[in-house]
Amino acid sequence: MIRKPVLGSAGFVVVLLSLVAFAPGTLSQGQVREKAGAEKTIFGKIEDGTVINLFTLKNAKGTTATIMEYGATLQGLWVPDKTGKLGDVVLGFDGLEGYLGPHPYFGGTIGRFANRIAKGKFTLDGKEFSTALNDGPNSLHGGKEGFNRKVKRPHAASVRLTYFSPDGEEGFPGTLRAAVTYTLTDENELKIDYTASSDKATPVNLTSHAYFNLAGSGSVLDHSLYLNADKYTPADATLIPTGEIVPVEGTPFDFRQATSIGARISQLTGNPGGYDHNFVLNGWNGKLKLAARLSDPASGRQMEMWTTEPGVQFYSGNFLDGTIKGKQGAVYQKHAALCLEAQHFPDSVNHPNFPTTILQPGAIYKQETVYKFLVN
Ligand code: GLA
Repeated sequence: MIRKPVLGSAGFVVVLLSLVAFAPGTLSQGQVREKAGAEKTIFGKIEDGTVINLFTLKNAKGTTATIMEYGATLQGLWVPDKTGKLGDVVLGFDGLEGYLGPHPYFGGTIGRFANRIAKGKFTLDGKEFSTALNDGPNSLHGGKEGFNRKVKRPHAASVRLTYFSPDGEEGFPGTLRAAVTYTLTDENELKIDYTASSDKATPVNLTSHAYFNLAGSGSVLDHSLYLNADKYTPADATLIPTGEIVPVEGTPFDFRQATSIGARISQLTGNPGGYDHNFVLNGWNGKLKLAARLSDPASGRQMEMWTTEPGVQFYSGNFLDGTIKGKQGAVYQKHAALCLEAQHFPDSVNHPNFPTTILQPGAIYKQETVYKFLVN
């Protein structure tokens, strides 16, 4: 799977930052290079005393993204509303502790495999693999300790965070070298680039699990959403795709005209009781394309998502249930945020009719997703 994304509008890169996740003992040598505007602060320490740093990217408009080494996590994203007032549009925690405890992937980089693999099983080159089960009978977001739980170290003269995932980690074959690069441009785009390579054939599906709320608080049911998708992949009760690719026409999944998220959500009664589906993006060719546009009428904030991926998991925060206290003591209720996870389709490894997620040795996996912020 070699994909060469075309870069979006080449805005001035204020800061490029390299995050490195690593398996114990395989940390690459290097140091962070901080360009003008980059700021590094200590976010906390994990149990073994390892210091976790937080990096701040700021552009000319004042838009600010904070990214931390643990999980290559997007911890904060302050963007202007229609009056120019900055608000934090992603869920998460003020301190490291929250991220070390149980939480639903707030802002994390997801790997090796975004979303689910049915029963954690797949066959590759005649061999059966079993990945870690962490979601009922299935494997979710890379297993029990996915990339979102790995410590990343700043490294190298470049501005990427890289991770060496050992052969067999969470049941996946091959040693995988993965990198994620966050870039904030003066056009208010947060670009996330991923690359990976492996020494054996292996499935790879990386994504970002940022939870967006363009109002900065409250529910996202009033947000309006456009999705550039004529089709979606229905899922069974355990959220595994049935393998069908069906038209959205005439269903609550039709977002081809911007529609408020709450308008039809009550029609989705089963598990998960809301949107948690993979949408098949129109005209996929591996180049950067507009996938989604989200707007919050009250604040005037808008976010476009552009991606090189064939799918997007639109998840309407259905499992948030008020048990998590996040930033500034905020209690995250059902639908307090939504995720737009650019990805290959869930469980692709078990559906030959889905675009392949198998990365062959010698090939380079590439993924680029851009979240662009606007006001109206
Ligand atoms: C993804 C999945 C959801 C849920 C969240 C995390 O979006 O599709 O079902 O597991 O992650 O809570």
